[in-house]
Amino acid sequence: MAIRRIREIGDPILNKQCKSVKEMTPRVQELIDDMFETMYDANGVGLAAPQVGILKRIVVIDCAGSEEEPDPIVLINPEILETDGEQTGQEGCLSVPGKCGIVTRPMYAKVRALNEEMEEYIVEGEELLARALCHEIDHLDGHLYTEIVEGDLMTPEEAAERAEET
Ligand code: NI
Repeated sequence: MAIRRIREIGDPILNKQCKSVKEMTPRVQELIDDMFETMYDANGVGLAAPQVGILKRIVVIDCAGSEEEPDPIVLINPEILETDGEQTGQEGCLSVPGKCGIVTRPMYAKVRALNEEMEEYIVEGEELLARALCHEIDHLDGHLYTEIVEGDLMTPEEAAERAEET
């Protein structure tokens, strides 16, 4: 396994459409393993393949808290089937380092994807997981949260100050 370089906003690869994965190969498996290692190393909750420069429809997510057991989720060729409700809150992205912003997302999302055995399965998420599913799947279509942020991008310090004021 290896930590891969995370592409940052401004890199044109982040705005490209990703291609579906047709079959599991040692290369794809290595990519998934590296994506987890890269995400955990950067303390992220999700990472999409274009963020490491690969235009494939692959997402990894782990929303477990630092005190909890890891909860790794692999989504190959994911597709949002259903969303419900709304949540407005702080969001960040490993490709937009040192910044965060306020984004409204569904409160619930239901996603169909393939696992590492290329078997279809369903992931349902609420709150942080719903936000992560929508954010990461957006990456596969070349979209960053900065396109839908409400107000300015902030540093985490500015966001904490603003939260105290309200
Ligand atoms: Ni992101």
